[in-house]
Amino acid sequence: MINDKKILFSGMQATGNLTLGNYLGALKNWVNLSDEYECFYSVVDMHSITVRQDPATLRKRARALLTLYIAAGLDPKKNCIYYQSHVSGHAELSWILNCFTYMGELNRMTQFKDKSAKHADNINAGLFTYPVLMAADILLYQADVVPVGIDQMQHLELTRDIAIRFNNLYGDVFTVPEAYIGKVGAKIMSLQEPGKKMSKSDENPNGSIYLMDDPDTIIRKCKRAVTDSEACVAYRDEQPGVKNLIDIYSACTGKTPAEVECEFEGKGYGDFKMAVGEAVVSILKPLQDRVKELEADKAYIDSIIKENADKANYYATKTLRKVQRKVGFPDRIR
Ligand code: TRP
Repeated sequence: MINDKKILFSGMQATGNLTLGNYLGALKNWVNLSDEYECFYSVVDMHSITVRQDPATLRKRARALLTLYIAAGLDPKKNCIYYQSHVSGHAELSWILNCFTYMGELNRMTQFKDKSAKHADNINAGLFTYPVLMAADILLYQADVVPVGIDQMQHLELTRDIAIRFNNLYGDVFTVPEAYIGKVGAKIMSLQEPGKKMSKSDENPNGSIYLMDDPDTIIRKCKRAVTDSEACVAYRDEQPGVKNLIDIYSACTGKTPAEVECEFEGKGYGDFKMAVGEAVVSILKPLQDRVKELEADKAYIDSIIKENADKANYYATKTLRKVQRKVGFPDRIR
């Protein structure tokens, strides 16, 4: 507990361009959690180098992501918004936890299998121990809850196993975190292949709406979205393309799927797609304007980076010292 509040940790990677799916499915909901929880939202740049990155691009994207967190409405005075690489405790705890994690456990991780198939020329040890660094992220802040997508559940389960294993050996050191399953964290699918999640690494740029797409591009992508020949705006699994567009429209307007069905009863897909495009623009345009405003204020963003790194370091060091003592490292002399 910090300030009588439960602790929440989550993070995103600054690789690829963030999509509408990242925003509606995650970021937008994070904003609502900061009243109830003491939140740590990290830009997990250390995870990013498990895949080869261009240094200048990574640095630029990391800053853009941190700025986006603030533009999306996360108050950096209330939420700890920081770069993972600015808190050396992540690496230090990660090393210790590596020694409490089994090869067999890491071998079972489906994301490792997927990523090593995708990056067969660079299956590095960091890619293998990626979930241990993620465990360190979470356990370092004694997080009670972790909002994650379904694709990260296996890593969260592993985090819990490591925490329980460590606690069984050394007493109650770590809070064992729970997944936070949001109420309506909309799952947004690809506009071109509605059976697939909208993804920042999709090769077809028409499948995803990027957060920085201009209005014309957004409208064009919505108009081109794959639908069906039912000619009826209905919220049902048999019409995955239309269902996805209803989800997007709902998330942008706050209307329920049933209300959306009513609104477009008897109307064609052309009108519906146009309305979806406009609804997305009405959400993303102000976000983009806010990003630009913040980017112009370099000194302000710099001060946030500094302040929040100090805050994160303070809590991280508290846990780290306790862990170092438990495993038998000599006390520091002051
Ligand atoms: N692995 C997560 C992802 O790619 C990002 C992440 C890193 C994370 N550390 C975390 C998410 C800790 C939640 C908690 O989506």
